Amino acid sequence: MADKLIIFDTTLRDGEQSPGASMTKDEKLRIARQLERLRVDVIEAGFPASSNGDFDAVAAIAGAIRESTICGLSRANDRDISRAAEALKGAASSRIHTFIATSPLHMEKKLRMTPDEVFEQAKLAVRFARNLVGDVEFSPEDGYRSDVDFLCRVLEAVINEGATTINVPDTVGYAVPELYGNFIRTLRERIPNSDKAVWSVHCHNDLGMAVANSLAGVKIGGARQVECTINGLGERAGNCSLEEIVMAVKTRKDYYGLELGIDTRHIVAASRMVSQTTGFVVQPNKAVVGANAFAHASGIHQDGVLKARDTYEIMRAEDVGWSANKIVLGKLSGRNAFKQRLQELGVAMESEVDINAAFARFKELADRKSEIFDEDILALVSDEEHSH
Ligand code: KIV
Ligand code: ZN
Repeated sequence: MADKLIIFDTTLRDGEQSPGASMTKDEKLRIARQLERLRVDVIEAGFPASSNGDFDAVAAIAGAIRESTICGLSRANDRDISRAAEALKGAASSRIHTFIATSPLHMEKKLRMTPDEVFEQAKLAVRFARNLVGDVEFSPEDGYRSDVDFLCRVLEAVINEGATTINVPDTVGYAVPELYGNFIRTLRERIPNSDKAVWSVHCHNDLGMAVANSLAGVKIGGARQVECTINGLGERAGNCSLEEIVMAVKTRKDYYGLELGIDTRHIVAASRMVSQTTGFVVQPNKAVVGANAFAHASGIHQDGVLKARDTYEIMRAEDVGWSANKIVLGKLSGRNAFKQRLQELGVAMESEVDINAAFARFKELADRKSEIFDEDILALVSDEEHSH
């Protein structure tokens, strides 16, 4: 059987760090239930030590969700880790995700710590967390910009302390696909105990490459967990988008050869829910969940799709939760699409002469009006002046 790719959703934690996207406890709970319906493997529900509100939200999600592992984020200190463990108490399956920065820039300018101090703190944090839960993820923040020798030293040590997942963040979205994939592969090859942990990728979208980088981390680097968010929500330009990575791995199973636990039919509902909750509009041409993702406007494409959908569709709209694909009637549309719409609207027009005449009127109207609605077509064919 093919390897499984673990989908770790962080909409409720990293997604919420997007300016203006903060959510109430009830909103988070509602989204968590939708993520469970989607059969996401791990839900990062929040950062319990960051506020009492977030603690309560994580605790509520831990108490309500049964099918997905619930994860809480913590810095690499005992207080944060204890708060996370406390919030996760009611979970059927729980994970603590602890992190500390390892890049020279972050250690020196932000943490004001030496590499040796960071090394010790990372080890102690994982040891402390492992005494509280069996499932511990460690992230070297700004990992991609870290010195590879130092990173190997830290990651080997935290695996020895019992970290079960090693996540390598491209915190500032600086990576490019081949380099990021090779970086993960180098770490896995150089760390002697690397096969004791699941390797995970966490990419930000500052250069628009979060999904591509994550896929390279999987394909080239051998990572088996991807951290992502619905609609790619997240800090600055966002995180790797769940719908895109899931559908890339599913649609190109011939290339990736990986199994997914996701029920993709709930993707569109999840996207809508996150968009409505945060007020962040999804662009129409967004892959998979944008309003135009399965819409066809040109006559040649419409004709092709009406004859065989796979001429211009690489996925089924229904497989991600749309009720159907969409034929948009406008000035570029062809006669075939127009005829099909007449049938769908219950307009019985048998004679080719009548259809041609109606189609000519439709084209005239379409030159003046950018989108033609069903009402326009009904008006056009029922117009006394033109009827026979
Ligand atoms: O981007 C990042 O580095 C993070 C870590 C906390 C995992 O979100
Ligand atoms: Zn992040």
